[in-house]
Amino acid sequence: MEKLEMLYEGKAKKVYATDDPELLIVDYKDDATAFNGVKKGTIVGKGVINNQMSNRLMQRLARGGVPTHFVKELSERETLVKRVKIVPLEVIVRNISAGSFAKRYGVEEDIVFDQPTIEFSYKNDELGDPLINSTHAMALHLATAEELDTIRRYAFRVNELLREFWASCGITLVDFKLEFGKLADGTIILADEISPDTCRLWDSVTKEKLDKDRFRRDLGGVEDAYAEVMRRLREHDE
Ligand code: TMP
Repeated sequence: MEKLEMLYEGKAKKVYATDDPELLIVDYKDDATAFNGVKKGTIVGKGVINNQMSNRLMQRLARGGVPTHFVKELSERETLVKRVKIVPLEVIVRNISAGSFAKRYGVEEDIVFDQPTIEFSYKNDELGDPLINSTHAMALHLATAEELDTIRRYAFRVNELLREFWASCGITLVDFKLEFGKLADGTIILADEISPDTCRLWDSVTKEKLDKDRFRRDLGGVEDAYAEVMRRLREHDE
């Protein structure tokens, strides 16, 4: 598979064309940003971990009935994926209060919900990814009612599958962000990445934060936390 021109450079990844119009190569960087790019830094080794972790988790999700963009891991930092048109929504599922939920509604972190919640943000850096509801998303033609139903169903299924898997690693899945894309024929599949950049992962016993909140909140030990999550994933992902 030939890596052709770079099509896009995001905050944490670069995307390249290939000689197959239906396939792209994603290249994971060590760059980290937070607060819509205001805070910038490097997490050494993050690109390798996020690439490998996301690929293993997506293969697990595919086995559990959630179609994904994953095709093949090409190198430590590079993966071949299906080309999709990204649905411009960040899909956030929460099991426990934290982050913007706790702030927005004026509640403590670490309140365990009776049922998981779902919310959408409009992926738009200029606007700061504002919270959006499904009728707004339809009004803006970001997705159809049917596509939103599929996305909601997949997002909750991802939560069930990942919550159970992370629990087996001694990790509590607090919340996470997904992005979905559309294939040329309109099929919705899971895209982007699933990693400590996009999930809140707490040690089940000590509640130690093992995710990007260590970077966002200047807690230190960022690299060690990512490595620890990867170590546990390897140990439990047969
Ligand atoms: P939040 O509490 O800041 O809204 O974050 C919810 C989840 O989404 C958390 O696991 C981190 C993840 N997330 C991203 O992946 N990208 C983002 O830009 C933001 C704001 C959150």
